[in-house]
Amino acid sequence: MKTPPALLLTGATGFVGRRLAPALSGSWTVFRASRTSAGEGALDLDLADPDSIRRAFDAAAPKVVIHAGADSDPDSCERDPDRAKRVNEDAVKTLAGLCGASGARLVHFSTDLVFDGERGWYTEDDRPNPAGVYARGKLASEEAALVRAPGAAVLRISTIYGRPLGGRPGFVDNLRAKLAAGETVAAFVDQWRTSTAGDQLPEVLTKLLADPDLEGVFHWGGAERATRYETATAFARIMGFDENLVRRARAVDMRFASPRPRDSSLVSSKLAAAIGLAPLTYEAGFKALRGAWG
Ligand SMILES: NC(=O)c1ccc[n+]([C@@H]2O[C@H](COP(=O)([O-])OP(=O)(O)OC[C@H]3O[C@@H](n4cnc5c(N)ncnc54)[C@H](OP(=O)(O)O)[C@@H]3O)[C@@H](O)[C@H]2O)c1
Repeated sequence: MKTPPALLLTGATGFVGRRLAPALSGSWTVFRASRTSAGEGALDLDLADPDSIRRAFDAAAPKVVIHAGADSDPDSCERDPDRAKRVNEDAVKTLAGLCGASGARLVHFSTDLVFDGERGWYTEDDRPNPAGVYARGKLASEEAALVRAPGAAVLRISTIYGRPLGGRPGFVDNLRAKLAAGETVAAFVDQWRTSTAGDQLPEVLTKLLADPDLEGVFHWGGAERATRYETATAFARIMGFDENLVRRARAVDMRFASPRPRDSSLVSSKLAAAIGLAPLTYEAGFKALRGAWG
């Protein structure tokens, strides 16, 4: 039997990578790469080290690279901007350069935070205006991907949720843990997001990879825009917890190391039309998580 083409997946131990690796195996020979080990047969990769990136790339000799590796914590990036630049920006320059030189197709994950959040419901045609080290680095990385790896696709996602697969907890894991313990949860009434259903990403990526003409920037959030408060109360209701445990809080009263846009909601209709798949509502996404924590 013919061996499926090679696909290099960075960030294989991350929230996104853990969902993609098993789903793509079969159609692709998936080379999982991350800083800590992603398990047997996985490649070591330090995105802060260009030689490490080259070694992983050479070992995989990929036809496709899905770059889901990053320092995804805006506050940690703000605290160490030099490291953030190496990991989130310079690494993409190196990786995209390798893709460009070899003809590998690059799919690069980016973020809704490239927008300043003053308006919301952003399309791919809207002009980014990032605030903070993480967001500025991600925008620079998008440009590097598109310029250095012809045919690249940049996939901007929103705050993500999904089934617990080990590794870093997502916001629903934290929410669920508190609600299940009967603890109150503070949630912002002045921050809007179109949260991405992480468990839908394997299907999105499978369809995107099936169409080589899909290049440029794409958004993939949820079908609806909601405040963090509305999101948390919907989650509590759908999962059968006491909604009254969710308390109103205001982001403007908080101090974060990195700025947070007020409304970074994404319009996902361009990619939805191209791949024939609709992004999920919160209701559908959260219902799919019932029973996920056992
Ligand atoms: N999470 C969100 O809500 C969200 C929202 C918008 C956009 N995004 C973007 O989506 C992509 C995937 O995010 P995620 O949520 O899956 O992130 P995540 O859970 O924080 O995982 C990050 C991944 O990157 C790897 N990584 C971090 N630093 C590295 C380094 N120096 N060298 C090699 N690998 C390194 C981690 O490996 P180790 O486990 O070995 O450290 C891990 O596999 C990122 O580009 C992120 O910016 C995420």
